Amino acid sequence: MPAQIISGTEIAKQIREELRQEIAELKEKHNLVPGLATVLVGEDPASQVYVGQKEKTSLALGIYSERHDLAADTSEEKLLSLVDKLNKAPKIHGILVQLPLPKHISETRVLYAINPKKDVDGFHPVNLGKLVIGKPDYLPCTPHGIQQLLVRSGIETSGAEVVIIGRSNIVGKPIANILLQKKEGANATVTVCHTGTRDILLHTRRADIIIVAAGKPKALTADMVKDGVVVVDVGVNRVGKTAEGKAILVGDVDFDAVKEKAKAITPVPGGVGPMTITMLMLNTVKAAKMATGLV
Ligand code: GUN
Repeated sequence: MPAQIISGTEIAKQIREELRQEIAELKEKHNLVPGLATVLVGEDPASQVYVGQKEKTSLALGIYSERHDLAADTSEEKLLSLVDKLNKAPKIHGILVQLPLPKHISETRVLYAINPKKDVDGFHPVNLGKLVIGKPDYLPCTPHGIQQLLVRSGIETSGAEVVIIGRSNIVGKPIANILLQKKEGANATVTVCHTGTRDILLHTRRADIIIVAAGKPKALTADMVKDGVVVVDVGVNRVGKTAEGKAILVGDVDFDAVKEKAKAITPVPGGVGPMTITMLMLNTVKAAKMATGLV
């Protein structure tokens, strides 16, 4: 049977429609407009695209959006003072500082400075700690998007052997903790593989679900998986440009070969990518509701 191709584009569209309705209702019943501030330091082209998409999606859903573009040589002190101002701004419920930051700025200091209640990325240690103890306010956006892709595609996670490749703070560690929770859409047996893993095949070949966030094309090949596996590809690798100058993107999975063995698989692009921004919108709506005592 051909693999089910899990369309992040379609699932993101569904969730955005739900959010658009909820936002309209918040405005009508509570005169509440969720507000998101994005902060971009420097001119990294990929980051500019991401921040532009976040702003565009906010506006399309009825979220108030404020964009702060700062020069690459902005001092850490100046960035921290902007974060402080946004922490205090009543119209702003969520703050997103796009990563990576230029080398002279400490990401840790900046992320710690964001009020955890406005931390819609879910990167603050308070929010990550709440996730680890099973009482999260905000789930980090990409891992939350992965969970939604599985749940909304009817893939059972409870009792499943889930293998994650990659232990980053943004994807690997949080998705492991999300799927470990004793909750619906989770309750999995989770293994995290990384560059120190001695025998990766031992793990991937017995996995029911594999989530690949390795940052390397073809990190998962067909010989590494069993028949009927579910594969989620988080990779975004730019491997060249088309004749028109558009970036050619590939994931971390050898898609054409792995799909022949898989029960379900996410494509790149159109898989995890569209989910990340959608979950940021969901967190911004939650932030606005928490700030006004609605949740
Ligand atoms: N850079 C790459 N992914 C992300 C993300 O999810 N949030 C932020 N703030 N920066 C990123």
